[in-house]
Amino acid sequence: MDPHPPKYVMLPENQGSIRPPPYRRNVPRYQSKSHKSGGNCCLRCICCCYCFLVLLIFLLGTLAFYFYAVYQPQVPSYKVEEFTTAHFDMKPDFSLYTEFAVTVKADNPNSKIGFTYGKDSSVEVVYQDSTLCSGQIPAFHQGYKNVTMIKVILKGKSDFGSGLQEALMDNRKSGKIPMEVKVTVPVSVVIGEFPLRQFKVQVTCNLVVDNLTPNKKAGILSNECFPKVEF
Ligand SMILES: *[C@@H]1O[C@H](CO)[C@@H](O)[C@H](O)[C@H]1NC(C)=O
Repeated sequence: MDPHPPKYVMLPENQGSIRPPPYRRNVPRYQSKSHKSGGNCCLRCICCCYCFLVLLIFLLGTLAFYFYAVYQPQVPSYKVEEFTTAHFDMKPDFSLYTEFAVTVKADNPNSKIGFTYGKDSSVEVVYQDSTLCSGQIPAFHQGYKNVTMIKVILKGKSDFGSGLQEALMDNRKSGKIPMEVKVTVPVSVVIGEFPLRQFKVQVTCNLVVDNLTPNKKAGILSNECFPKVEF
């Protein structure tokens, strides 16, 4: 109610502002022109970005294709070759001291890619989710088309519990002892002379051996290894 009277009062006061409309008529033309050129600029920018992106994707694709064609990368394979028990001592308190010598065969089938195995590795022998013993593989470089036997000595004392001890005794009697050998190792991929970034490789081998008799090489009944790479 009150705002209406002020509006009528305002008009005479704004007489000066009535003039601008003619100017404004002109101004929009310039503005619309400048808007148009601004839009063109934006469009050009987006176009450029698109062209650049397409080019980049094309280049990366070509590079990847070239890399695969020239280097033909292949995943190395692993296998437990030998499993020998040095100690297998069940203690009356249900703890178990074990010492195994495990030989893992690492096969690098690549003819242009090498691998460097780092220091901070770990190897574990696991029986029914309990770690029996552990060790480390030595750091080494594996060249092209190379097969290396990695010998690892694993030692450890585990608190075993009577249940597991019984299960293991049963397995030993039946001559089928399921074990897991877990290897975790940092691996650098080396192309030519250039080491690329390091990956954490985890190899899990499901193993069934026929005996755990000290100082006797175990027969390996089943042996499947699954490599997994953590990026
Ligand atoms: C494979 O690499 C290992 C470790 O570098 C080396 O000791 C061995 O001689 C190589 N084997 C062959 C067949 O080149």
